Amino acid sequence: EQTLRLAAIPGDGIGPEVVAEARRVLDAVLAAEGRRADVVEYDLGARRWHATGETLPDSVLEELRGFDGILLGAVGDPAVPSGVLERGLLLRLRFELDHYVNLRPSKLFRGVASPLAGEKEIDFVVVREGTEGPYVGNGGAIRVGTPHEVANEVSVNTAFGVERVVRDAFARAQARPRKQLTLVHKNNVLVHAGHLWSRTVKRVGEEFPDVTVDYLHVDAATIFMVTKPERFDVIVTDNLFGDIITDLAAAVTGGIGLAASGNVNPDRTTPSMFEPVHGSAPDIAGQGVADPTAAILSVGLLLEHLGLGAAARCVEAAVEQDLAERGSAPRRTSQVGDDVLSRLA
Ligand code: NAD
Ligand code: IPM
Ligand code: MN
Repeated sequence: EQTLRLAAIPGDGIGPEVVAEARRVLDAVLAAEGRRADVVEYDLGARRWHATGETLPDSVLEELRGFDGILLGAVGDPAVPSGVLERGLLLRLRFELDHYVNLRPSKLFRGVASPLAGEKEIDFVVVREGTEGPYVGNGGAIRVGTPHEVANEVSVNTAFGVERVVRDAFARAQARPRKQLTLVHKNNVLVHAGHLWSRTVKRVGEEFPDVTVDYLHVDAATIFMVTKPERFDVIVTDNLFGDIITDLAAAVTGGIGLAASGNVNPDRTTPSMFEPVHGSAPDIAGQGVADPTAAILSVGLLLEHLGLGAAARCVEAAVEQDLAERGSAPRRTSQVGDDVLSRLA
């Protein structure tokens, strides 16, 4: 098939700005291979919610199931109550489409200023669980607004859910030169979930004897991510820890504007969804200054997932050359798009 059928959800804030540049790069890299993308854009996010009260209509969700892949910008808006779009749109997509592998690579590219002292080799990937943990909404509150309020958010960890993401992380570790997997959790305190994760890693690890395994409590993992990030190869962790450490990982590899991610269903029963790690950045939205690099690199992850490895490597190489030459100097959103496009040639 020469034509990819993709859905785009630009979303809120800087989402549409960065998705526009990502789509230019997508079109160009496909054209170079004699292919094209048929992209259907979906108007979801704050504007839609204000106009109709909808976050993700069932009919749209069903349509989305029919695409080869989804490209998302960002969701969330200061004028919408916090959680409405994040849960109702983004998390609903991840859950309904069973994106159990939230793939977040972190690489320090040449020319990029890292806040870390010294020249570190940083190249690791976080395999963040995407469908369970404290994100599932298994909670509730009583006596809300009174001094006796009780608010619970109970993390859900199933043997099935933990095992499938752990197995995926092992397979990714095995395919990398260093073959090293670090489980990040907090099993000294969260003993129920923590021990399930630890036992699962131990058991599944027997199927991957060539992969070296270690364990870090999440608090210590944040230390090493700053003091010794080169120690990491593949990290596997739960949904919430993964959210937090991947913003940190982005910060130490040149900033949130460079961090790409994939919400992947490795079983391919549904389309996977690719998006920057960052949010809608209301503080800079509409100014044309957001860095679209993360969205562009997310296109690379999408192409890789769809089996277009050569095109994916073109995108990454173009970004790599662009950063090596231009470094971390501020540029306008469209300028970054132009510069990466010129490198594709
Ligand atoms: P954020 O990632 O939007 O912004 C954090 C900081 O990083 C801000 O200073 C912002 O200007 C900067 N930043 C982010 N992306 C950038 C880019 N591409 N180029 C340059 N600077 C960039 O996080 P936040 O402020 O915590 O959240 C804002 C909104 O986005 C909230 O509604 C939140 O729920 C939502 N959010 C959505 C996603 C998503 O859609 N995947 C992810 C995170 C946050
Ligand atoms: C991310 C975001 C989301 C998350 C929010 C917006 C639901 O922070 O993609 O990292 O917590 O997963
Ligand atoms: Mn996040």
